[in-house]
Amino acid sequence: MDRVRADLARYYEHEAANRLRGRPSGFRLGLLDRFTEMIVAEGRRSVLDVGAGPATDASAFLDAGIVYTGVDLAVANGALAGEAGADVIAASMFDLPFRDETFSAGWSMSTLMHVPTDQVAVTMRSICRVLMRGAPLMIGQWGGRLGDIDSDHTVPGLPRLFALRTAAHNRALLAAHGTIERWEVRDAGPDGWEYHVAVVRLAS
Ligand SMILES: C[S@@+](CC[C@H](N)C(=O)[O-])C[C@H]1O[C@@H](n2cnc3c(N)ncnc32)[C@H](O)[C@@H]1O
Repeated sequence: MDRVRADLARYYEHEAANRLRGRPSGFRLGLLDRFTEMIVAEGRRSVLDVGAGPATDASAFLDAGIVYTGVDLAVANGALAGEAGADVIAASMFDLPFRDETFSAGWSMSTLMHVPTDQVAVTMRSICRVLMRGAPLMIGQWGGRLGDIDSDHTVPGLPRLFALRTAAHNRALLAAHGTIERWEVRDAGPDGWEYHVAVVRLAS
C-alpha cells in the first residue's frame, strides 16, 4: 500500500473504531432526496456507494426501495454499517470486487478528493466499469485552490491527503467519463475550501 492509502486507512479505521462520523445533514440531505427521486423515476433499483463510510447515506436509498451496496477502505465501517442494516464491503475503489455493469446508479460523497490527481482517471474507469450503461453517478468532493494538503485537522497526528483541485479541473476530470448533467460549486468548510457536486451520466 502506498503512503497516501496507508494514511487514509489509518485515519478511517480510527474514525470508525471511535464512531466519529455523523449522520448526513444540511445540503447533503437535499442531494440525497433529489438523487433518489431521480433514480426511482428512471426505474433504477440498485446503487453502489463508493467510499461509503459507515453507510452514512444508506437509509435514504433503502427507504426508497433501492438495493444499496457500499464499499469502503476501512474494514471497521462494514461492522458499523451492519448495525444500521446496510451492506458495506471492505474494498478499494481502485479494484472493485464486482462484475462489469452490476449497479444501475452510483453515488460517492466526500471521497474522490482523497485520490491523487494522477490516479483520478483510473479510479473513474474502475467505478464506471461496474455501473450499467447510461447510469447516473453523483459525486461530491471537497475542492478549492489549495492543492494537495496532508491535513490532520480532524484528528491531530493522523494526516490524510486532500487533493483540493479547482472546480474547472474537477469538472474536466469527470467530464472525461460521461456527460456532466449537473454541476454545483459551494463555498464550504475552512477558508478557501469548496464542495463540488456533479452528476455524471455514463454513455448508453
Ligand atoms: C470523508 S469519508 C466519506 C464517507 C461517507 N461517504 C460520507 O460522506 O459520510 C471518505 C471515505 O472514503 C473511504 N476511502 C478512502 N479511500 C478509499 C479507497 N481507495 N477505496 C474505498 N474507500 C476509500 C474512507 O475509508 C472513508 O470512509
